[in-house]
Amino acid sequence: MCGIIGYIGTKPAPNVILEGLRRLEYRGYDSAGIVTLNNGQFELRKKTGRINDLAAVLKKSPAHGHTGIGHTRWATHGAPTDANAHPHLDQSGKIALVHNGVIENHQSLKDKLIAAGHQFLSQTDTEVLAHLIGNFYKGDLTEAVRLALKDIVGTYGIACVHVDHPEIIVGARRGSPLLLGIGRNENFLASDVSAIIAHTRRVVYLNDFELVTLTRDDFQVSTIEAATVTPQVREVEYAAEEVERGKFPHYMLKEIFEQPRVVENALRGRIVHDEATARLGGLNLSPADLRAVDRIIFIACGTALHAGMVGKYVLEELARIPTETDYASEFRYRNSPIDKHTLVFAISQSGETIDTLAAVRECRRKGHKTLGIVNSVGSTIAREVDGGTYMHAGPEIGVAATKTFLSQITILTLLAVLMGRMRHLASTRGAEILKELETIPGKIERILQQTDAIQKVAQKYCDAKSFLFLARQFNFPIALEGALKLKEISYIHAEGYPAAEMKHGPIALVDPHTPSVFIAPRNSVSDKTMANIEEVKARKGPVIVVATEGDTATAQKADDVLYIPDTNECLQPLLTVIPLQLLAYHIAVARGCDVDKPRNLAKSVTVE
Ligand code: AGP
Ligand code: GLU
Repeated sequence: MCGIIGYIGTKPAPNVILEGLRRLEYRGYDSAGIVTLNNGQFELRKKTGRINDLAAVLKKSPAHGHTGIGHTRWATHGAPTDANAHPHLDQSGKIALVHNGVIENHQSLKDKLIAAGHQFLSQTDTEVLAHLIGNFYKGDLTEAVRLALKDIVGTYGIACVHVDHPEIIVGARRGSPLLLGIGRNENFLASDVSAIIAHTRRVVYLNDFELVTLTRDDFQVSTIEAATVTPQVREVEYAAEEVERGKFPHYMLKEIFEQPRVVENALRGRIVHDEATARLGGLNLSPADLRAVDRIIFIACGTALHAGMVGKYVLEELARIPTETDYASEFRYRNSPIDKHTLVFAISQSGETIDTLAAVRECRRKGHKTLGIVNSVGSTIAREVDGGTYMHAGPEIGVAATKTFLSQITILTLLAVLMGRMRHLASTRGAEILKELETIPGKIERILQQTDAIQKVAQKYCDAKSFLFLARQFNFPIALEGALKLKEISYIHAEGYPAAEMKHGPIALVDPHTPSVFIAPRNSVSDKTMANIEEVKARKGPVIVVATEGDTATAQKADDVLYIPDTNECLQPLLTVIPLQLLAYHIAVARGCDVDKPRNLAKSVTVE
């Protein structure tokens, strides 16, 4: 689930691998390790904690060689201990393996291996696979990996080396991403392109059930059934500088500040002013196909799901198409009846979230056209869907998603205009929405200028133990997103609800120590939300309000106000989420939390 990097070339492998592991840090992990091949020996170092802890071990006891593999682990089987950290060795000690994912049948395999005399040094499922590969090894490492993987039930991205073969690294994937980077006189394996982008932009994304054998100047891709694969070499579209933090103290803050550009990028080339509509060419659907759609389902997880929920409100409002959202993890196991006029959309920043991917596969298996809104170019979901839209938001490094959320809702608004203009949306209303959409980047800039004021509010509330986020209609998903952002990075308990739903239970939590954040810009339901604010105040709950600039009446009711510029009601989520991102960020910083690498979280969740 976490990070893999492999290197074979002419440079000192430990340096390249350590640097690659640092670039994978953002994904969240609990331990790290590296093995290099040096003069017929393994040099194996592993450590719980941060990459800096592993670097300290390497400083004391350096590793050498020009071939090696490294790993950041996000424990699924066995606690985060040095022994459980990867790489793991086989029984002979000659094969080393790093692995992302979960070997589901590890226990039965382990029982058989123990019966055959194997001894295990860790509690991991990964060590079982290392032993299994060792069992099949008869001089050809690729073949041994292939045979072992045939016995595996579960998900894996792996990199494997043999001490007697410093001239090769073997990789394979199923369910966990893996790509190879092609350099000059050097090649790389990685779970994420950011690990190798400083060295090469030429990559090959492996598909499920594919293996690769890398040498310094060549590579061979084949399937688990030993069929040869002709790999497709792609150029990665972003540059190494894009993954630098620059002047910002955290990636998350940098990404919040990138949002005006992100919205512009999501809109670029997609507005057709003459026809008051949007153009989303990648959907691969004819006007007749689009016209025939009578239901839409968004499947996603976490923040991407909240974007889908905004999409539901906007699509129903502008296009009058019944729209549902579902947790990908629920959808994939639910026997949801879908008819042939239903359009299924997967929304995913990483394009690797296993639940979303499985939901896509389930839909496609049933023969439904399934589309994607994805940020990571070349990711598994992007490759497996029938069409869709790239976000062009650039790499998102902060574990808490911010800019990609904005990108997603911008694209969903374009989709709503496009579908609406084929149905009931008048050209005047379409034109008005599109014109207003183009003003959003400038309006976001205005909110970003208030970061100091928001920081002061954050200081005031940073010791609270619990927060409520409340809103109605288009902004209801923003209440969920505001609560998610806060809990992810500050570890404060937070819940989001439709404002009126508060009376049906959560109001019991209201007291002078529990702040309620109301997202209450001026709109068709603001009077109703105002009544809910009164209810909280009557119970002495502190109230923070996200309000429209100049709305003094609402401001007077609040203890603290975060302002947004006025905009069309259905575009308000594009603005109301920004102060909440900044509030969460400043609260987390005030509490001394590691904003970019929050505890227990991983950037991309490739296990169930
Ligand atoms: C967002 O802050 C979270 N880290 C998480 O909820 C995330 O949105 C979710 O895991 C989905 O990821 P994806 O967009 O890469 O599929
Ligand atoms: N299941 C393996 C373990 O717990 C791999 C975890 C990961 O993906 O980092 O060690």
